[in-house]
Amino acid sequence: MADTAVVTSEIYSEKDYVCNLKKSDNKNVIAKFVFKYPLFDEDGDLIVQRSKESKVSEQFIEIEHSSISSLKLVGLQVWRGALLLSDYLLHLGPEKLKNSTILELGSGVGLTSIVASKYAKNVICTDVDLGNILKLISSNFLRNKHHVKSKYSILGLDFYANEFSDELKEHLPNVSLVLAADVIYDNDITDAFVKTIERLLIEPPSKDIYIALEKRYVFTVSDLDSVAPCYEHFLLRLSEMMAKNKSKNWSAIQLDLDFPQYFRYDRVKQFVLWKISS
Ligand SMILES: C[S@@+](CC[C@H](N)C(=O)[O-])C[C@H]1O[C@@H](n2cnc3c(N)ncnc32)[C@H](O)[C@@H]1O
Repeated sequence: MADTAVVTSEIYSEKDYVCNLKKSDNKNVIAKFVFKYPLFDEDGDLIVQRSKESKVSEQFIEIEHSSISSLKLVGLQVWRGALLLSDYLLHLGPEKLKNSTILELGSGVGLTSIVASKYAKNVICTDVDLGNILKLISSNFLRNKHHVKSKYSILGLDFYANEFSDELKEHLPNVSLVLAADVIYDNDITDAFVKTIERLLIEPPSKDIYIALEKRYVFTVSDLDSVAPCYEHFLLRLSEMMAKNKSKNWSAIQLDLDFPQYFRYDRVKQFVLWKISS
């Protein structure tokens, strides 16, 4: 697709996507992403709500974002993968996340990192430094400071760069969890992304990488069928990476999506969530 092509995230056509959409001073919008806040007991275990009276309260994360962009600046929008991964983090909860340093790759406008910062010890929210995205992430963190309970940093990280920045290198010895939502949509970016996660997996300590994505199907005449070429390409690169590092006993599994849905969005059947562990 040409760089000038404009794209728009599927979530904007969903009826429950937001309430109170406001225009910001620039061309962006400010939207409230509503979620049911899961309640945890002192041990960090999820309290199961048995009666209708003890209804879990609804809360929201307010995010400034663009509702249309060029392909190069897709990070200025919010994509469904961010919501799937946010659900998964809320599901893991404070007990599993409280001591973790979480690194997010290709964070877009920061929604998933803000959710991570509710429970984690430290969050490093990164994206390629283009189109003022890092500034937008920063203002979205400030906008939601009542949710943000962890330390956090917002850093540039380009999958194509051969080296991590000095600032990121300082954090790497503590990173136990890596997140990436909806970064599989262009084969060149996927190649650079898989090389990036390989470098992260090689670095101690051992870590879990969660990758949420939506398989995007197209009908091709050559296949006479609907295929998801970007996803197939990712699977190919992932299996090559695993084969190359066979002696290291890494694992790559596709997780069941049977965890609760806290955010409002369509949990479409094209969703996939991978967990890769070193
Ligand atoms: C479809 S958006 C997903 C954004 C966000 N994770 C979400 O789900 O809403 C893809 C993300 O990958 C990022 N990205 C693209 N090329 C990249 C690169 N070379 N290095 C790092 N991130 C990149 C984009 O800036 C964007 O934030």
